[in-house]
Amino acid sequence: MRLPIRLSFSAPSRAILLALGAAAVFGTAQAQTAAPPLKVGLMLPATGTFAALGDMIERGFRLHVQEQGGKLGGREIQYFRVDDESDPSKATDNVNKLIKRDNVDVIVGTVHSGVALAMARAAKDSNTMLIVPNAGADAITGAMCAPHIFRSSFSNWQPGYATGVVAAGKGYKRAMTITWNYAAGQETVKGFTEAFEKGGGKVIKDLNLPFPNVEFQALLTEIAAQKPDVVFAFFAGGGAVKFVKDYDAAGLRRNVPLLGSGFLTDGTLEAQGSAAQGLQTALHYADNLDTPRNNAFRKNFALTFKANADVYAVQGYDAAQLLGAGLVAVKGDFAKRDGMIAAMRKASIDSPRGRFTLSASHNPVQDIYLREAVGKNNEMKAVAVKALADPGRGCRM
Ligand code: PHB
Repeated sequence: MRLPIRLSFSAPSRAILLALGAAAVFGTAQAQTAAPPLKVGLMLPATGTFAALGDMIERGFRLHVQEQGGKLGGREIQYFRVDDESDPSKATDNVNKLIKRDNVDVIVGTVHSGVALAMARAAKDSNTMLIVPNAGADAITGAMCAPHIFRSSFSNWQPGYATGVVAAGKGYKRAMTITWNYAAGQETVKGFTEAFEKGGGKVIKDLNLPFPNVEFQALLTEIAAQKPDVVFAFFAGGGAVKFVKDYDAAGLRRNVPLLGSGFLTDGTLEAQGSAAQGLQTALHYADNLDTPRNNAFRKNFALTFKANADVYAVQGYDAAQLLGAGLVAVKGDFAKRDGMIAAMRKASIDSPRGRFTLSASHNPVQDIYLREAVGKNNEMKAVAVKALADPGRGCRM
């Protein structure tokens, strides 16, 4: 099977819509009128440091839909796309292209927490269904939670917290953290610090730089001077490639162990080469999970795209599974949105990462694995924290 990976659909013109409407009324007297396709707006980064991540999410989403014959709950899916450039300052305008111009039924996106927060606000204002296939901004399934907002990925707190459990368990006492200075970095570090300090450690200093800068040298010099027991890092995509290489080239790996949330080495191992080998990270997916579900997913993904799946592909795939769970329950009738939402809330998603359910605030309750980078894979070493649920702080619904 080959999928149209980069096929772009623009909004049909008014004339075409009218024509389609007329055909529906007059054209098929013999059959019930088929429902028009469900309009799914994909808002993802196609450029910038997170471009590869957006691509994998889209591939994963399309793969699940394709495996269902191009339909979810019997309803054909039509895609609309916007490149959000991981730029929060353009996010509101960008999401409104999907909501107001294209009139999509569901928005799926995005990678960057700051962009996703603007999307959640727009989804709330317009009462549009939103499924977040990556961005971990805690508030999306916290203070900003809403019945029609779901996440198929994680909250920033989750992998941060789990890595803190791992670091304390290894007996480290003095840690430094390093990340980009925006919601995902700050919240991941906060989760790490919470668990690490609960486990008897102390974070002696937080280092950061603006997103998406990659001038790490001054910060690496400071790490070398302070000599902590361990460094915890959150970076992802192109920035993670550069950071891991720079950390290695500075000679730090021999002296100061580096731990990260798994984005540090996910989808990046080929580009990082030997600099990443042996790095340990914590995340809700590991490439080599030896389950029939993961093996079948990876095989089909590789056959379809001639590329290996990663965590982002899994999250996109599961966003489509979650939408599918809702649409199946209402037999594709999106107008029955309350029924859809009820089915999505109580869905048990058979994910390549392992089965997961959603918390009351619509975030996955999931195992977080300790992984180690071996060759091209992030291999599972252990379950770091079983069935970790984000606390959903501030969510009322
Ligand atoms: C985020 O901004 O929430 C984010 C971005 C990239 C990741 C993970 C989280 O890999």
